[in-house]
Amino acid sequence: MLKETKLTFVGSGNMGEAMIKGVLGRNLVTPAYITASDPREERGRELVDRYGVNFTPDNVEAVKAADVIVLSVKPQVLPDVLKGIRDAVVPENLILSIVAGSRISAIAQGLDHEAIVRCMPNTPAQIAEGITVWTDTPAVTEEQRDQARSVLKALGEEVYVKDEGYLDMATALSGTGPAYIFLFMEALIDAGVHLGFSRHVAERLVLQTMRGSVDFARQSNLHVAQLRNMVTSPGGTSAEALYQLEKGGLRTVLSRAIWAAYQKSKYLGDLSAAEANNDHSVEHPDELELS
Ligand SMILES: NC(=O)c1ccc[n+]([C@@H]2O[C@H](COP(=O)([O-])OP(=O)(O)OC[C@H]3O[C@@H](n4cnc5c(N)ncnc54)[C@H](OP(=O)(O)O)[C@@H]3O)[C@@H](O)[C@H]2O)c1
Repeated sequence: MLKETKLTFVGSGNMGEAMIKGVLGRNLVTPAYITASDPREERGRELVDRYGVNFTPDNVEAVKAADVIVLSVKPQVLPDVLKGIRDAVVPENLILSIVAGSRISAIAQGLDHEAIVRCMPNTPAQIAEGITVWTDTPAVTEEQRDQARSVLKALGEEVYVKDEGYLDMATALSGTGPAYIFLFMEALIDAGVHLGFSRHVAERLVLQTMRGSVDFARQSNLHVAQLRNMVTSPGGTSAEALYQLEKGGLRTVLSRAIWAAYQKSKYLGDLSAAEANNDHSVEHPDELELS
């Protein structure tokens, strides 16, 4: 799908590199079709040495070489980046943004451009095991949608949604998700150390238990509650532990945490859209009802 498609990465940090590596690893294009831009020449040398791609510290020069322009800078620098490349973007370009919290309307306005894909990846993308939720504008052609899907598959799985509103939900569930999982893993490892295992052994037990449970859930096709019941003998150890987890409000805490992340994501999106229009009236979620 990407044969002879020229890809430019504006911002070539962790995610930019993960995408370059994934696209090349899947033989979607040859390195000659990829241009990376980044402010640091030293970073450019690293990418050229590792992947043989083209590099320039000049975003405008990079964009001029592109069919698909991937925006992979941090949200704080995006407004300036958009201003900088605006005149170099042509109507035939597809803009693919992975920038968290930046709405399609803000990118469209910043670039005066219509064909835009917006995505929410997550950190396991760095080993091609991520999941990315994405959407697009009506101006994106069928061919460009396939190109976007191919690039995103280089980061792991992808889920297309029609409504941009799902991007804030995805931010709270899968985008922020690795933070919840890592905290859960850390807590289990610490509990193992509390019992008397060495940290190294506790880590092995927890990581393999997590991985095995995920693989088992995927392969068995059973509802997760059925799988949980399978390890919960009457009057047994799991029943005892689960009682304590429910009593401690684990489900409620998780639900509230994810709801709070969702509210925060919507707020950050509102804020960046308002700032682009010099509007300072957006309320912080602390002042909103978090139910
Ligand atoms: N990491 C994730 O798993 C993840 C998940 C979801 C979404 N995202 C989104 O992905 C985007 C990139 O994240 P990341 O983790 O790859 O960040 P990162 O490693 O900091 O990469 C951003 C790169 O952009 C460069 N940069 C800074 N100013 C620039 C400019 N004016 N023009 C071009 N490049 C510029 C930075 O260079 P310097 O370091 O020299 O400043 C850096 O190399 C963010 O918007 C983030 O919200 C990331």
